[in-house]
Amino acid sequence: MQDDEHKIDDHLGRMEPLAIDKAEVRRRHESNRAGWNEGAAHYTEKVAQTIAFLRGGGSSLHPLEKANLGNLGEWCKTAVHLQCASGEDTLSLWNEGVKQVIGVDISDVHIANARQTSAALNAPARWFRCDILDTPTELNGIADLVYTGQGALCWLHDLHGWAAVIYRLLKPGGTFHILDDHPASWLFDQGADTIQAAGSSYFGHSESGKGWGPTYIGDLEIGVEQQSRKYERLWTLAEIFQALTGAGLTVTHLGEYPNEYWVSFPYLSAADKTKLPMTFTMMGKRPF
Ligand SMILES: C[S@@+](CC[C@H](N)C(=O)[O-])C[C@H]1O[C@@H](n2cnc3c(N)ncnc32)[C@H](O)[C@@H]1O
Repeated sequence: MQDDEHKIDDHLGRMEPLAIDKAEVRRRHESNRAGWNEGAAHYTEKVAQTIAFLRGGGSSLHPLEKANLGNLGEWCKTAVHLQCASGEDTLSLWNEGVKQVIGVDISDVHIANARQTSAALNAPARWFRCDILDTPTELNGIADLVYTGQGALCWLHDLHGWAAVIYRLLKPGGTFHILDDHPASWLFDQGADTIQAAGSSYFGHSESGKGWGPTYIGDLEIGVEQQSRKYERLWTLAEIFQALTGAGLTVTHLGEYPNEYWVSFPYLSAADKTKLPMTFTMMGKRPF
């Protein structure tokens, strides 16, 4: 049962119609930018810790990502990380052997954190603060790897635009990789201590809310009501596949796992978690 104590997110949550037209997509992305500028404060507090972790050779890549990507030092000269946040995963790619890394994110605060971190490490990194839909065309054809995920897709309201960016960033023969929340995990109540339906539709679901879950960013100095509204969207596995193939990529891999990459169901037993699709991975190639 979800009770007040177990209520974990979106105190001011509501269902939203899908963003159909470009203006509404941009309006939601800009609102998310404001929301992420608030939420990124949580990352700013940890910049010194992140620098120390990366300087020690640390990597925040998930074991599933490491297994899928193999020895990056052998094949990846340039990686572009879409929705790079404060750059920890981006710079982990460098620690894993990538020669130069490029991060793109909509949040001013995240990109400022990433710049500070890479400067402290003297890392071969470049950062672009923009909506991923506006990723500069000077980066076209630069990437051996376009990497994204760990909480990326739900913030986007134009998946075909996203896939077109991936295609144009990749070199012919280049690789795309994503590990993200499995869309079916949205169907279950994150605040429950047994497996229970959340009641949301798998098809055409969009929602907005304020506040951040306690197992992720938690409380901010600014009160929940004063925070910016953040807009999310469930993209089904078929929609992700169709966006990538529609843009011209060949999808080469799909995996589904009970592994969480963050504590998304804090009250569920370990045994129950093994029954749910928590994450998926997908890979693709830009054909030669
Ligand atoms: C959950 S975070 C990514 C997690 C990341 N792996 C980390 O290090 O925590 C989602 C990121 O997407 C970014 N974002 C959301 N909408 C975006 C958009 N339209 N274009 C670019 N970045 C966006 C946010 O600013 C945020 O940094």
